[in-house]
Order: sequence, then structure tokens, then C-alpha cells
Amino acid sequence: MDVSHLIDPDRGLIRGEIFHSQAIYEQELEQIFARSWIFLAHDKMLPQPGDFIQNYIGEDPVLVVRQPDGSVRAFLNQCRHRGMRICRADRGNARNFMCSFHGWNYGLDGDVINIPHGEAIYDAVERAEFRATPVRLANYKGFIFGTWDAAAPAFEDYLGDFAWYFDAYIDRYEGGLEVVGMHKWVLPANWKFNAEQPASDMYHGEVSHASAFQVMVPPPKDAHSPPPDWAMRQLGQLSNPSGFQFASPYGHGNGWFAGGMPTMNETIYRWQEATAAQVAARLGPERVLSAGHANIFPNFMMLSNYTFRVTHPRGPNEMEIWAWSMAPVAAPAEVKEAIRLDLLRTFSPAGMFEQDDAVNWEEEQRILRGHMARKAPLIYKQMLGRARYDADGLPGRTVPHVYAEEGARGMYRHYMDMMSGAPWPDLTRRKQQREDAERRALAAQGQPPAKPDAAAA
Ligand code: FES
Ligand SMILES: [Fe+2]
Repeated sequence: MDVSHLIDPDRGLIRGEIFHSQAIYEQELEQIFARSWIFLAHDKMLPQPGDFIQNYIGEDPVLVVRQPDGSVRAFLNQCRHRGMRICRADRGNARNFMCSFHGWNYGLDGDVINIPHGEAIYDAVERAEFRATPVRLANYKGFIFGTWDAAAPAFEDYLGDFAWYFDAYIDRYEGGLEVVGMHKWVLPANWKFNAEQPASDMYHGEVSHASAFQVMVPPPKDAHSPPPDWAMRQLGQLSNPSGFQFASPYGHGNGWFAGGMPTMNETIYRWQEATAAQVAARLGPERVLSAGHANIFPNFMMLSNYTFRVTHPRGPNEMEIWAWSMAPVAAPAEVKEAIRLDLLRTFSPAGMFEQDDAVNWEEEQRILRGHMARKAPLIYKQMLGRARYDADGLPGRTVPHVYAEEGARGMYRHYMDMMSGAPWPDLTRRKQQREDAERRALAAQGQPPAKPDAAAA
């Protein structure tokens, strides 16, 4: 199906049909999830040989396994005999995997190593034909991504300029991150409503999360005292919406407040303050602030409070969210515990921010049952036409406001590219041509003005 009549990134218009249609959903599984790099695991989830976790590429279950030689492999968790799930556990440690239907046995690398009565009933067991379908993997600073598509660009090329921003979330401290908590839940809304938000939408925070921010301010000492100074300063950062948004040609987006993202957790706040100079020296003054919230297309999100999550697609009207809390290995034990509790309070199924967001997404989805609601174009025009390249010390394409929809327009432009079914080499060439043309035009005209009123003057 051609979706180009539903998405117009140049004018910032998107029709709700893309969040509702079963046919579009099936096409997403084929053209987007089966061809993109999808987050599968972190090195620290698989410390020992034989450690495995189960994850998904779209709706396809994938088993990610630490090998005896220390490498990691992944394969479709589907028995080649009748398609039963080879391993039914979410995670664990194994020497091999036995399908519980007829007993085929698979090694840690996905090769078939034993078939009950095999020699009596098969003329030959061709290892290549009988082995579980392998996933192509890449490891970026401990984060393991996989794709089915041999023609997809190398993962670092796929990240492109976003790698610089990704490091602001995952590489603030020597030693990287480790998992301290995890939650899974299901929401009756399309996966893209979640994905576009960290890619783009900081705008909803001051309205959707207003009451959550207020109740999260630590209480004053007594009825006559104001709330603590540090907490009011943190809250104050939200009332100054200066900031930036980044949009990648591969659909990734990032957004942040220029003054840094606030935290209402005193333990985390004190530790961040104590280590601020060290982190700034490691990342540089611009990048240290650039962790707000972000999405690696299509469905891997991260937040400045060390929340990392995937939204697995489960039909056009449902998503399954898996959220990990990952703390810096270098953090003291009480800070790691504070980070774990912070996810519980904010972006877990019981978290206050999560419940605010879920109400919006569920309601958007419910409304799209309506015929007119699916046809009406939704407006994604914030900071339209104001993108610059390599401005303000920031790599790639950015706009100079935290409330913007450049990230969403970039996400849906790439979405449209992928949904066209064009092969990857054509897509990468097209993206490069588009960017070269934009850079040439900006060089000829100068950078667009930062503010709309400056444009009108
Ligand atoms: S389906 Fe797995 S052994 Fe038959
Ligand atoms: Fe939110």
C-alpha cells in the first residue's frame, strides 16, 4: 500500500489512518520492523556463557544468547519443524534448547544438534536448512541491536549523528550502565504514539504532567516553609522552554531543555551535582545537556532518568512496552537504588508520568475508530522550516527550540521511505541527496531565523 498520501512531512501533516489500519500494520512488520535495527539486549543482561534473553523484532520472537567464546548470537525463536517456540523462558542460562513439542534440540548458536529418531526418519539432516534463522547483530557500547536485513546499513551508519547524542545517555560515566530494574505491560494504543513522543514531543509535559511534577516536589520541612530550594530550581527549568531538537535522516529524534533535564529525586540530584564537572569533561559542555528524551527508530526509547524501553507492536491498536532501568556502573549503591525507584515512580506501569501519557495515547487510539477522525490531517508544524545543520555546537539537523516537531517529521519521513519498500541502497542514496541539497540551500540562503517573529520582521 502506498502511504505517501497519508504523510506530508514537508507541510507537517499526517492522517490518523496510519495509526489505525490493519493493512498498514502488516506492511510495517514487513517493511519497517524486518528491515530496521531493533534493540535486543545489553551486554550486562548476558554476563555468562549460556545466558539468554528473549526479545522481539516486531512480532517475531528472538533468542539472544551468550556463546561459550564470549560472543553473542541471536536467532528466530521458532523451531524449524512445526514452528513451536524453541525456548519458552524469558531469560535464564542453558547448555542447549529443547523444543517442547517433538524434542528437537538446538545448540546455543541455533544449530540443530539432536533430532529424536532423526537417522531413522530423515534421509539427511542438512545443518544449514535445519538451523534456526539467524539475526544480524551489532554491539554499540554494550547495546545489542539486530536486524534480519543483510542490506541494512552498518549500525554506526544507521545511528549517524545520533551516536553523539546516544552517548549522552549511555556513556556519561566510565564503565557504562547496568540493569537495575525492568517492567513489562500492554497498552491499547498504536506503537507510533509512544515512539514519536521521545523522538519529538516535550511540548505535552507542562500540561499532561503538570500535576505529577507538583506532587513529586519533596515536601517542605513544615507547613510554614517553602519546598527545598534545589527542587524548586529543578522545577524552574521546565518553565524556560529554551532547548533543542535533533532529527536524523534515519528517523531518530532527540529533544532537551537547554538548562538540563530536571529530577525530583534528591539522591540522584545530589550525585549528579557532585559528578557534573567530571561528566562535562567527558562529554563536552553542549553534549552533557543533550540527554532529554530520544527514540532510535523505530521503537527504542531513552529518557534522561536512565529509562530505556522498547514498544513492541502488537497489532494496530496495541503495544507491549518493555522498560529497563539502567544505572551507571560507577554510581554508589544508594544512587542505583534511587534510579530503580525513580523508574517505578515515573515511567513504570504504576508511574505517574506513564499514566498521564497512557491516557493520551489510549484516547487518541479510541477516537481513530471514527471515520472523520482517521481522515482529518493532524498538525505537526512546530518549528517547520527552521532546521539548521551543525549549528550551536550540535551535530546534524537541529531546530533551536525544545517545543518542536522536527523529530516527528524526521521520523515519519523515514517511515515513509521504509514503507515505500525501496531497497536500502536506494534509500541511503536518496537520504544523502536530500541532505546535500538542504545543506547547499542553507549555505546559499544562510541559516533560517531561530524565532518566528524574527522571520516576520
Ligand atoms: S515443533 Fe519443535 S520439534 Fe516439532
Ligand atoms: Fe510524557
